[in-house]
Amino acid sequence: MTPRSFLLTPELADYVRASSEPADPVVADLLAETAALAARGEASPTYQIAPEQGTFMQLLTRAVGARRAIEIGTFTGYSALCIARGLPADGSLLCLDRDAGWTGIARRYWDRAGVGDRIEVRLGEALPTLRELPAGQTFDLAFVDADKSGYADYVAELHPRMTDNGVVLLDNTLREGRVLDPQDRDDVALAELNAALAADARWETVLLPLADGLTLLRKR
Ligand SMILES: C[S@@+](CC[C@H](N)C(=O)[O-])C[C@H]1O[C@@H](n2cnc3c(N)ncnc32)[C@H](O)[C@@H]1O
Repeated sequence: MTPRSFLLTPELADYVRASSEPADPVVADLLAETAALAARGEASPTYQIAPEQGTFMQLLTRAVGARRAIEIGTFTGYSALCIARGLPADGSLLCLDRDAGWTGIARRYWDRAGVGDRIEVRLGEALPTLRELPAGQTFDLAFVDADKSGYADYVAELHPRMTDNGVVLLDNTLREGRVLDPQDRDDVALAELNAALAADARWETVLLPLADGLTLLRKR
């Protein structure tokens, strides 16, 4: 039930994970509790990012020296846990999500991992919450993993809030390959956004074929 890339066989996914930093007990328990939610039909089995993506995001957060981060779409908190662990002890992560139940699960694991004091959750619709942040509130790193048709607005709102060289990560930008032949409005939204970003001189852009596609945008 653990999410894996549509590009990997189950054997290759196991190999990728065995060749990367191993999950610690907090992550293992969070993945298991989230998989149980999905097994009961209470959440989509594809919501949570893949373990190798979490490991990558933790490393990237630390490597770019991010201190202030924002996440749009938190669910049960795995990606936020990875980002928070990559921040320094006095760093901060602001999480936007509309679901109190899922972010309540997240909070238990963040506290257990000792990073709960770095993370603030704002419940509600993400776009108005983002728009209402104080004008001077900026971020070194952003991760977008909420409603796919909202991504273009999130990127537009994030641009003025990113520090120079700040990095925005966009999840699911391959839509399991359907960006080549969009089947629904979320596929169309991502296909259009991918094309627009590749031509947008304000960002340095790369779409990595990691998990379900992870786009990195560096603010020029
Ligand atoms: C794919 S899940 C996020 C998975 C998470 N990043 C992880 O790795 O576990 C998407 C989340 O976005 C939230 N969400 C979707 N649309 C939203 C919106 N318009 N405003 C706020 N939250 C939203 C959902 O409640 C859900 O928790």
